[in-house]
Amino acid sequence: MNRRRRIYEGKAKILYEGPEPGTLIAHFKDDATAFNNKKHEIVDGKGVLNNRISEYIFENLNAIGIQTHFIKRMNMREQLIKECEIIPLEIIVRNVAAGSIAKRLGLDEGTQLPRSIIEFCYKNDALDDPMVSEEHITAFGWASPQEIDDIMALAIRINDFLTGMFRAVGIRLVDFKIECGRYFEGDTMRVILADEISPDSCRLWDIDSNDKLDKDRFRQEMGGMLEAYQEVATRLGIHNINT
Ligand code: C5P
Repeated sequence: MNRRRRIYEGKAKILYEGPEPGTLIAHFKDDATAFNNKKHEIVDGKGVLNNRISEYIFENLNAIGIQTHFIKRMNMREQLIKECEIIPLEIIVRNVAAGSIAKRLGLDEGTQLPRSIIEFCYKNDALDDPMVSEEHITAFGWASPQEIDDIMALAIRINDFLTGMFRAVGIRLVDFKIECGRYFEGDTMRVILADEISPDSCRLWDIDSNDKLDKDRFRQEMGGMLEAYQEVATRLGIHNINT
């Protein structure tokens, strides 16, 4: 029985109308998907872990003055968020070569990049989220030059903070993906962090063993995905997951 109005259903989350105007409820599902939904399984408990890990990260980002859509966690699977207009870009920040950049540029996985690199993909499932340049983004009007600047500044601050946060618990932040939204407060519009940051959207390697603690365990059929996500939560000091 769910009487709330469903606004949108994505691969890993459902968005419902929130209790106040301008709010939504994000419900974290157990669906694990990869290769744009070509691989799909239900992993019991993944949504609960991602809800908690993303809450932890967004609260910490809010605390250092990075504006996010996160308001508060409501229960095991749901959080209250600010409604914003999602900018149709996936913003990827990379510190170490892995995944698509390793393949595209012929780099060995694990190679430290000369500096952190930001990439943009156009968020479009039918096209498999193609990589695009700032030229495409401004020419097609997906974001303005000022918004691209704001997004890049946000991405760099988040990368700096998360790199240190994970390093402190023995984890290397290899790369991650964020999404941003336009949030209107009266007449002012600002770019804020939206969606989630979790082991679904990051590559996280144990600093000593290089063990993968992220969705690559699922993509590469390594097994132990839930245990890896649980390990990330435990190291971050997130306990009592089932509350
Ligand atoms: O596959 P690729 O190497 O481009 O992914 C870079 C980072 O962005 C990885 O951490 C991956 O989990 C994340 N990503 C994501 N959602 C996508 C594409 C990539 O979370 N649609």
